[in-house]
Amino acid sequence: MTRSVRRGSRGGRGGAGRGAAARILIGAALGGAALLAPCVSAAQAADLAAGREKAGICTACHGADGIATAPDAPNLAGTSAFYLVAQLKAYRSGARQHPQMSVIAAGLSDADIANLAAWFAAIRVTATLPP
Ligand code: HEC
Repeated sequence: MTRSVRRGSRGGRGGAGRGAAARILIGAALGGAALLAPCVSAAQAADLAAGREKAGICTACHGADGIATAPDAPNLAGTSAFYLVAQLKAYRSGARQHPQMSVIAAGLSDADIANLAAWFAAIRVTATLPP
């Protein structure tokens, strides 16, 4: 069974609907969009190209495509930008500690973190369950 996973999505807009049911759905979608607004605006403010460039220093362990090459490093591809930002800031502040990541995060600005998170979140991954 194959499932396409899109995490860190920017909250798609549904097409124009017709009738009361459609209006209710649109209302619900807009309500959801309002709840997600802080994440969406953060993602929009981020610079994907800058994130891709900065991610060059991450590839040795996390892979050029965000699928980890080092056995002790997690995959970052498709991970939500919200989570990635939180973890990178936690490494930077010392709330989360790791010999390598603490050093790497110490050199990242808020903009670097937002751009890196947007870049890795934008990579689309597909999950395949075992038979
Ligand atoms: C030298 C290898 C190495 C490099 C280079 C590296 N990382 Fe990591 N990264 C790791 C390891 C190992 C972990 C797991 C650390 C832990 O257990 O807390 C990790 C964890 C993380 C996590 C936490 C993920 C999670 O699932 O909680 C994030 C986010 C992350 N790295 C982002 C980056 C970014 C962005 C870069 C480049 C700017 C980078 N890393 C560069 C090795 C590396």
